[in-house]
Amino acid sequence: MARLPIRPRRNRKTEAVRGLVRETSLGPKDLIWPVFVTDGARTPVASMPGVFRLPRADVVKEAKEAWKLGIPAVALFPALPEKLKDPLAKESVNPKGLLQRTVRDLKEAVPELCVITDVAMDPYSSDGHDGVVRDGRIVNDETLEILAAMAASQAEAGADLVAPSDMMDGRVAAIRSALDERGFTDTGILAYSAKYASAFYGPFRAALDSAPKHGDKKTYQMDPANAREAIREVQLDVAEGADIVMVKPALPYLDVLARVRDAVNVPVAAYHVSGEYAMAKAAGQLGWLDADAVLMESLVAIRRAGADMILTYAAREIAARL
Ligand code: PBG
Repeated sequence: MARLPIRPRRNRKTEAVRGLVRETSLGPKDLIWPVFVTDGARTPVASMPGVFRLPRADVVKEAKEAWKLGIPAVALFPALPEKLKDPLAKESVNPKGLLQRTVRDLKEAVPELCVITDVAMDPYSSDGHDGVVRDGRIVNDETLEILAAMAASQAEAGADLVAPSDMMDGRVAAIRSALDERGFTDTGILAYSAKYASAFYGPFRAALDSAPKHGDKKTYQMDPANAREAIREVQLDVAEGADIVMVKPALPYLDVLARVRDAVNVPVAAYHVSGEYAMAKAAGQLGWLDADAVLMESLVAIRRAGADMILTYAAREIAARL
């Protein structure tokens, strides 16, 4: 018999032992469920099997179920008809807007649930961009005023966390001061700090019909080739008052996530985005991959890389299995 005193396999002998030595946990409490809201009928999102644009009543019902599964938070994204979109995203501050009404309904029905709202112009913009377009350019400072007013409107409706996903410079500071001026000192900011210009957002844009009408988002979202720059973005957002920072997408950017985790002391979120979800589901439908197992493994990997919390469209199915 070969003498082999050190045998790492001993720590993998049984599920009981594996459980004792497991370094990373994944539980329902780590998950945030992103939800598409509509004023119309419940409709499936073609490229995201199992995902629907939900009317408000369904959002409330399903968010209650998610809460019962142990999911502490939802992130809302309104799908608006083209006629409500304009170059300045005016509908985003309508106190009776779809998003504001949904937030109110949710806070009334499940007050303990953490409600997160997206701050960016694209669902409301006739240009499909996250900022104001002038002569083909996305102008930063003019956009800040719109974002600040949008965040205040969401806080007024009852959002627990506002989540700027626009990648304009200085938006966290602008939002923080707009919230504080109006007395919303307890409304937190979950900043999409390191958000990359990614092809993985395709199914999301199809769900909201929010793809840019011209050009792309590369003058504001980050270059996928850069990691050091992510640290700079994150540090700026923390200095401006972000309560939580985010890396997005998740799986292709685990290195960024790990570096961000080391660089700051605020909690770190990761967004397992629409394209990541679609890939797993599509391969699963073809019988090429076990989608359930792939999703579980992906989320554990995202936690291992350093995410305290994960936004994922698979939140409910994963929570139900955990
Ligand atoms: C909009 C926004 C996007 C996502 C979240 N907020 C799309 C984009 O920036 O074009 C993508 C989420 C996903 O793909 O799941 N500011």
